[in-house]
Amino acid sequence: MTGKTAATSARPADPCCLVIFGASGDLTHRLLIPALYNLAASGLLPEAFALIGVARTESSSAVFCADLAKSLPKFATRDIDERVVKKLLSCVAYVQGEPDHAATYKKVGQKLARIERERDTKGNRLFYLATPPAAFTPIGCHLGQSGLAREENGAWRRVVVEKPFGTDLASAGDLNHKLLGVLKENQIFRIDHYLGKETVQNIMVLRFANGLFEPIWNRHHIEHVQITVAESLSVGRRGGYYDATGALRDMVPNHLIQLLSLIAMEPPSRFAADAVRAEKAQVLDAVQLQTNGEALRNSVRAQYGDGYVENRAVEAYRKTKDVKPDSSTETYVALKLLIDNWRWAGVPFYLRTGKAMRAKQTEVAIKFRQAPVAMFRETPVDRLADNFLVIRIQPDECIGLEFNAKIPGPSVAIGGVGMTFKYGDYFETSPSTGYETLIYDCMIGDAILYPRADGIEAGWRVVQPFLDAWHEAGAAGLATYRAGSDGPAEADQLLARDGRRWRPIA
Ligand code: BG6
Repeated sequence: MTGKTAATSARPADPCCLVIFGASGDLTHRLLIPALYNLAASGLLPEAFALIGVARTESSSAVFCADLAKSLPKFATRDIDERVVKKLLSCVAYVQGEPDHAATYKKVGQKLARIERERDTKGNRLFYLATPPAAFTPIGCHLGQSGLAREENGAWRRVVVEKPFGTDLASAGDLNHKLLGVLKENQIFRIDHYLGKETVQNIMVLRFANGLFEPIWNRHHIEHVQITVAESLSVGRRGGYYDATGALRDMVPNHLIQLLSLIAMEPPSRFAADAVRAEKAQVLDAVQLQTNGEALRNSVRAQYGDGYVENRAVEAYRKTKDVKPDSSTETYVALKLLIDNWRWAGVPFYLRTGKAMRAKQTEVAIKFRQAPVAMFRETPVDRLADNFLVIRIQPDECIGLEFNAKIPGPSVAIGGVGMTFKYGDYFETSPSTGYETLIYDCMIGDAILYPRADGIEAGWRVVQPFLDAWHEAGAAGLATYRAGSDGPAEADQLLARDGRRWRPIA
């Protein structure tokens, strides 16, 4: 391999008007606008493009546009080209309004009518719900009832819903039900930013574009799977949101479950949205539902105490602003899940995620079975290094294979070695926000990276037994771990019970 390969050129998205609800918020400024900038700089935004911001704050189109221009350099992931900014912000409008007032949608409709005429955006509309979750239902319903999201005359109308999508199985079902009462499934794009990550998308390519892995991707060859999403960040300024949410709800039904379903799904019949989404939902349906007792035994929840993360002092979670001093909200969770199907029966999937841990590390590690017999007298099988295939998603995007090799010398001594494919060594990539592909896909109508209603509910169905069991147990059973550590000792015991151990956090 000599040179690096750049991504093949894709066509610009369809002409459209993007309407962002929650336009004055953090998500808009920190991620959406920089992602739009990156799309524009790569020539992937349509020529006919317009942006309407909707928020409660009193403002005007000119002030909103100036705010975006001011915050963009702060959050941009690449150098700013003023010509691209000028083009991106050449048609920006602002509507002040409450999400649950019909008058807001009347004003949005008037702005849209004018802009669609002026910019020739062909009536295509992308509504982005970048608001707190309480506004999802009112906005979705008003968009449906007002006719703003009605597809007519060949124009598409799509709605992106941010996370969290519900707070448990019942509320996620209810939100789906309400949105599906006014919109068609193919108009709803439920976002999970993990699916915008290149390495996450690559899981499907690794599994299904190589003949190598599929024959061994099953219980006969795989012994267990570890999915780790460790964050070094503490809860910081998000105390209010986090204390009502916790690590399980914040990370598992969405991000970790997406990783699990990509690893465990059956090969879809086609690389098309419905085929892929059906397989993902199907494998989640096969996850064993646990009784209260099993859920308690197969889970660990913990909260971080004082410590040091990357040489910075971090205060205990309970001292965080807007967190109750006696809070029993977990900042760490580890789960053991089993999948009841022919491919995975008996293969545990261990999931863990936590805040204020030793380092940021997101990876899926697949442990293959040991060699069956002790052929090498000097190194019996139980002392051979483990065979792991590791898909590293963050911070360094790579795929590694860990296996045994002969240590050079006259005797047969064996040592563990590794082979690593690093994305950056092979491909030219520009730093991105992770939202580019997701927004672009939505503009071209490709829903492959967006979970369907059944997929969302299947994710919640997996975590609901843990929510119920913990609710019943109350604060009892909440462990602690030192900020800057690998997590609580109880999580080590969860694996030790099965004769296994977690991979270290780097
Ligand atoms: C978000 C969670 O969905 O994902 C955050 O709400 C978390 O709490 C974040 O920090 C992690 O995303 P990433 O891309 O940094 O792994």
